[in-house]
Amino acid sequence: MKRQRTIVVTGADRGLGYELVKQYAERGDYVFAGKFRTRWNLLDELKAQYPDRMQIVDMDVGNTESVRSAAAVILEHTDKIDILINNATVWLSADCGTVLEDKFDYERMMAEFNINALGALRVTQALIHAVLKSFDRLVVNVSSEAGSITGCYKDSQPGYCMSKAAMNMQACIVLNAVKRLGGAVLNVHPGWMQSVIGASAAADAEMMDLPENIKFYTTPAQTAAGFIEIIDQPERFSSDKPGFVNYKGDVMKY
Ligand SMILES: NC(=O)c1ccc[n+]([C@@H]2O[C@H](COP(=O)([O-])OP(=O)(O)OC[C@H]3O[C@@H](n4cnc5c(N)ncnc54)[C@H](OP(=O)(O)O)[C@@H]3O)[C@@H](O)[C@H]2O)c1
Repeated sequence: MKRQRTIVVTGADRGLGYELVKQYAERGDYVFAGKFRTRWNLLDELKAQYPDRMQIVDMDVGNTESVRSAAAVILEHTDKIDILINNATVWLSADCGTVLEDKFDYERMMAEFNINALGALRVTQALIHAVLKSFDRLVVNVSSEAGSITGCYKDSQPGYCMSKAAMNMQACIVLNAVKRLGGAVLNVHPGWMQSVIGASAAADAEMMDLPENIKFYTTPAQTAAGFIEIIDQPERFSSDKPGFVNYKGDVMKY
């Protein structure tokens, strides 16, 4: 029989986060699902289906107090977290033009940085000791090709792209601190998913002349299944730097 893992997923109300919670619960793992807003009720429906395999936890990753309260709720139930998945995100910089125009909104960029980059760090710090007590000891950051510096082709959306590049750096810093304790960190890129933010990004990208290897479309369900397979064998991608792979297991460039 497969060992039941304990998993935390942030930003799980919809999209990829929701799919990860669903697929892990379906296969018998126990998931703490980070809920951000009350306007989506998919998680409540899932909880009704799997009452013994998941718990919904209110968590705003952009707010330190909220993350600490959420961590306290989780740690009341378990002192071991096998896999922490930092998935929560905002993408607020669509249609912000280039540096040649005057359309950048620095408040929005700060929100992207706060939620996408610092959010992952906040949650990791709040839960890292429980991760390190577990069997898998794995932190997964849902990053993006948008955070790749060597693969950068965009001339716009600096807030989102810089926040994902910062998330990748955050992953390196965390790995350097935890690897001697057996901890592992993986950065993953979902592909272009047909989610709420994915649909807007794809519409935006239609306008660009993109490298072929960037152009692929997937659904949150397909990506979640790919990630779960990858997360089952993270050692395939580990080295002295966090692995960076897409949902198909192709290695990405930092
Ligand atoms: N979709 C793509 O094509 C694509 C491509 C590359 C990378 N990614 C990455 O994949 C991950 C999942 O994306 P997705 O397409 O599933 O996006 P999504 O549908 O927008 O889901 C993101 C989730 O994060 C939540 N969230 C926003 N702010 C939060 C906060 N402060 N605290 C906690 N949760 C918060 C959102 O809540 P609300 O519903 O309230 O906004 C939403 O439930 C993200 O990390 C994204 O950057 C996606």
